[in-house]
Amino acid sequence: MASPSEKTEAAPVGVEPMSFLRPDPFGLVIFGATGDLTARKLIPALFDLAHTNHLPEKFYILGTARRDWSEEKFRDEMKTAVTEQGRFRPQDEDSWRRFAACLHYQSLDAGNSASYEQLRRRLEELDGKHGVPGNTLYYLAVDPHLYPEIVEQLGRAGLAAASVAGRGWRRIVIEKPFGHDLASARRLNTQVRGVFQEEQVYRIDHYLGKETVQNLMVFRFANGLFEPIWNRRYVDHVQLTVAEELGVVDRAGFYDQAGAVRDMIQNHLLQVLCLVAMEPPSSVEARPVQQEKLKVLQALRPPDRRCLGECAVRGQYGPGAIGGKSVAGYREEKGVRPDSPTETFAALRLEIDNWRWAGVPFYLRTGKCLHRKGSQITIQFREAPLQLFACTLMEPCEPNRLTIRLQPDEGIDLRFIAKQPGLEVIGHTVEMDFSYGAELKARTPEAYETLLLDVLQGDSLLFAEGDWIESAWERLLPLLEAWAAEPPADFPNYAAGTWGPKQADALMTRDGRRWHLT
Ligand code: BG6
Repeated sequence: MASPSEKTEAAPVGVEPMSFLRPDPFGLVIFGATGDLTARKLIPALFDLAHTNHLPEKFYILGTARRDWSEEKFRDEMKTAVTEQGRFRPQDEDSWRRFAACLHYQSLDAGNSASYEQLRRRLEELDGKHGVPGNTLYYLAVDPHLYPEIVEQLGRAGLAAASVAGRGWRRIVIEKPFGHDLASARRLNTQVRGVFQEEQVYRIDHYLGKETVQNLMVFRFANGLFEPIWNRRYVDHVQLTVAEELGVVDRAGFYDQAGAVRDMIQNHLLQVLCLVAMEPPSSVEARPVQQEKLKVLQALRPPDRRCLGECAVRGQYGPGAIGGKSVAGYREEKGVRPDSPTETFAALRLEIDNWRWAGVPFYLRTGKCLHRKGSQITIQFREAPLQLFACTLMEPCEPNRLTIRLQPDEGIDLRFIAKQPGLEVIGHTVEMDFSYGAELKARTPEAYETLLLDVLQGDSLLFAEGDWIESAWERLLPLLEAWAAEPPADFPNYAAGTWGPKQADALMTRDGRRWHLT
């Protein structure tokens, strides 16, 4: 996210996106409107969409939460949020006033059915006032333990049914985490499906809305060059790193019960892995793509409990320094148990048992308080069958490597060996680099803009399907159970500001490989 000083000073108002169909008029109900997600992501994204003419003329946003805020208070808070977090600042009072006129607030007790009766009346009133023909999107930005209750209550109040005569569509967005394990995810899916039809449900994973993650499919399937070599015959191994410099910030209460596998791998990293490993879909519609992604998970071999030490590493940061600043250890963070066994780092070696990938390891790692922020996919190709130039190389010959940089410094680079100019034949590794660059970056929408717009248009391509989520939990269950049964004896085992525990490097060196991060 751009810092306030880097902010783009607004795209020209009135610029019409080319050949773009705006969504139908809609009402959006945010549950959890006084929370962090609403202020940091949702409202800034909606303002940006309105500002760039991607929203219809007729829409409204109804914030709901327990707190007894007035409409004015809600609007003021959201103005601050947009100013601090949005890609575009409210350019002038007028542009803000137009948006603010669409913001409403109603306090709501999620567990009280009378609140939903009031909600229904308010929606009717607002539909009339804003000229919205009954299209309603519910966004659950609340604590996950409230999901079942809200879904249940919406159903009971008759606010969930799609296409009631004379009404428009109803959709619901459910934030992650979707369940804490397989059993709770299944339960939640059953509850949600008991009230909403699958096509009304959008389970959000913001990684799928990132520009560079969306580009994965375009890169793989719009080019003829890579697909023929995207398999076990040519690929030696695949790496996926999502490194964070930040610690748990103010989310210790949630994070200490979750840990790196639940927070990052079960969703974001496995989604990216599926996009890298899936077969070409029959079309880029939601259903065929989701089917191919599910097949990858079904072929993913769960980490073997009997030899976990060889394929899974967990870590927790202790005190250290990042960017010259001292950082407290995880167990010293406010809200973390002083003897917490929660992993803030995880590295896994996974295999996919299908014809394309059999025998090709996929290494995944993610962690908090690492040396620096950086997420990338590395496809390392096999060595050339014969090293004709081995004796003239300046450095040990590195096999070709394709790196897809997800963030920051978004781009793609390919390393290969070339002759160094001169009279002798000397080879060395060179890099061909495509960088999204600053200009494009400034125009790149936030993941939440993309995803909100997709829901409003009824496109579920970039959302996680219920079966996919269950399958992801299922694959990781043996690991989660084994780790829970055996609390770590060596935590903290890496200093904040490093690249994680030494065992994560050993995971690679045992296989004769090493982690790459450009
Ligand atoms: C969230 C996790 O889903 O993703 C956070 O809950 C994590 O713990 C965040 O920090 C990372 O997202 P991004 O977009 O900053 O890479």
